[in-house]
Amino acid sequence: MSPLVVIKNHVIPNGVNLLNFLPPSLCLKLAFTHREVLLPRSFDVLILGAGAAGLFCASEAGKRGRRIALLEHADRIGKKILISGGGRCNFTNIHTTPENFLSSNPHFAKSALARFTPADFIGLVKQHRIAYHEKKLGQLFCDNSATDITNLLEAECHAAQVQIFLNTRVTEVQRTTEFVLSSDSAEFRAPIVIVATGGHSIPKMGATPFGYDLARKFGHKIVPTRPALVPLVFNPADHHRYSQLAGVSTEVIATAGKNSFREKMLFTHRGLSGPAILQISSYWKESQPIHLDLAPERDATASLRASSRRDLAATRKALQQFLPNRLAERWLGFNAPSSYTNPDLAAFEKQLHNWSLIPASSEGYEKAEVTAGGVDTRELSSKSMESRLVPGLFFIGEVVDVTGHLGGFNFQWAWASAAAAARSL
Ligand code: FDA
Repeated sequence: MSPLVVIKNHVIPNGVNLLNFLPPSLCLKLAFTHREVLLPRSFDVLILGAGAAGLFCASEAGKRGRRIALLEHADRIGKKILISGGGRCNFTNIHTTPENFLSSNPHFAKSALARFTPADFIGLVKQHRIAYHEKKLGQLFCDNSATDITNLLEAECHAAQVQIFLNTRVTEVQRTTEFVLSSDSAEFRAPIVIVATGGHSIPKMGATPFGYDLARKFGHKIVPTRPALVPLVFNPADHHRYSQLAGVSTEVIATAGKNSFREKMLFTHRGLSGPAILQISSYWKESQPIHLDLAPERDATASLRASSRRDLAATRKALQQFLPNRLAERWLGFNAPSSYTNPDLAAFEKQLHNWSLIPASSEGYEKAEVTAGGVDTRELSSKSMESRLVPGLFFIGEVVDVTGHLGGFNFQWAWASAAAAARSL
């Protein structure tokens, strides 16, 4: 007589993996209540991480008839999507080009971005009757809430019969004839593993270094990671001078290295933020200066030079034409012209267009929207995201060394890299 395993009211002859025949909801319940008797579950594809990239890849691959398990250690899907875009999810940017991305291999993203475009994702958004609008600069946001996007992804996964396992932290991946994944609730097997575990940003939202560790374990190089799209912190002298301006914002051209962005800048209690600063933070290197043009395309001292009255009060008035009063006042306090001769006013004008500061640091992964660097793309196929070193192993989304500018580009990379992987299965 063959020995039996009993799980609640189900009787399973030894060797038969009943879990493959039960509805996912029941399997999930069993996974939590009877961990000790679970047998490995077999799928065609295992996807690690139910963020933007993992969810979209799962639905696209599921539609192609693959049996997909999506494993997520949090208690719900798409946590970062829910907080993105101030709760309204800037889900794409209609002006996406490869130039909107940083990577040590700038050509890598081209193929995936060309084969899954913003219009493709917008098509899906329309199909789900999600209301959206362009805020500025091609940035598309939900009218209602970011939940619309997680609902869309969940519905697509459901339609594609993807099995989602929440509260399932993948702890180890081994490769024998196929991949064997250990998690804190069960063991999973499949010939294909897709790593979509994201980067280091916002650890309290569930970010883990698991994807990078896994890549290293299988021989992949990691381009050094750093916080990106992150506020910058004043050095002590500038903190003393400008931290009282917290809350003040103005339009600037911010430059780090060769990269400039014309957007709003915001003073914070600790330093500088706002879109202009977040954009240049991705290019900023520790101990390097940033440069701020406080009067983009303006001849700020023209009225002074044309006037017979040249003094501090007239200068303040000139600055207040385009800078918030508090900023004009404070900045002038530390950068007033040394005299009101034409050469000194020219030097003052120059300083206004090229205020250089050396930030002490960035606010780090606690505040960074994304992680720059990651799995070295030179060891991945740009067509499919598959490892060139380990057949059947794929990396998609933020874990890869492709980082978008602010404005919906990071989600577009998540969708595009996910689609590239799914289409190759
Ligand atoms: P993501 O981090 O989304 O998902 C990874 C998943 O893997 C997580 O669910 C995590 O819990 C899970 N995981 C990790 N380790 C695991 C393990 N060992 N086992 C199981 N699961 C594991 N971008 C944009 O384009 N527009 C926007 O509006 C915004 N706004 C924004 C706001 C804020 C506050 C942040 C922090 C970020 C943004 N972004 C953004 C960036 C965007 O959120 C980010 O680029 C994508 O979420 C990346 O998607 P991924 O799926 O690659 O990783």
